[in-house]
Amino acid sequence: MFISFEGIDKSGKSIQVSLLSDYLKNKGYQIVKTCEPGGTKLGEKIKAILLHPSNKVSKISELFLYLADRREHIEEVIKPALKEGKIVICDRFMDATVAYQGYGRGIDIVWINKLNKIATQEILPDITFLLDINPSLSKQRGRGNDRIEEEKISFYEKVRQGYLEIAKSCPKRIKIIKGEDKPEKTHLAIRKIVLRFLKKP
Ligand SMILES: Nc1ncnc2c1ncn2[C@@H]1O[C@H](COP(=O)(O)OP(=O)(O)O)[C@@H](O)[C@H]1O
Ligand SMILES: [Mg+2]
Repeated sequence: MFISFEGIDKSGKSIQVSLLSDYLKNKGYQIVKTCEPGGTKLGEKIKAILLHPSNKVSKISELFLYLADRREHIEEVIKPALKEGKIVICDRFMDATVAYQGYGRGIDIVWINKLNKIATQEILPDITFLLDINPSLSKQRGRGNDRIEEEKISFYEKVRQGYLEIAKSCPKRIKIIKGEDKPEKTHLAIRKIVLRFLKKP
């Protein structure tokens, strides 16, 4: 099973990824907890280039760097784990590129969808949790100072709306979860959906 988490910065993805993977591990499942960018050795280097505040990266180069990171991640981590029957829990995946580089930066979404298909070898998450919060709450929670997180609130508004559009077009895969509730409450909602999926014959 493949689960991804999406949402703007500080929406609570890292916390929810940890809560879900701990919960499923305790139930005896084999879990691979991973993230994008940076889920492989090469990916860590790509991530460092992408996030360093003083790097100037054009938006198309940025897109290709994320896609390169994703392709490595699929080949080296995600595909092998799924083959072994493990549950992969990934902090950001292909929807992030559509939301940030597409809706946020304005790159053609048709291109991005095509390139994503190549990068992922058409391996899709079974469930994607979109943690939806207002960008002002993201800021309140203390946004960091990497190259992407330095973006203005208007950029985050576009990314948030983008995520909601993507969710509308994939209602079966993407579950919109309110990210404003207490982490434990949010976790219970997520857990319920995952357990329902695991119980399906
Ligand atoms: N539901 C929540 N309520 C209040 N604070 C939260 C909640 N979820 C996350 N936070 C806080 O917001 C910050 C970002 O959370 P994190 O899980 O790292 O988000 P992300 O991985 O999406 O950037 C952390 O300081 C965390 O403690
Ligand atoms: Mg995080």
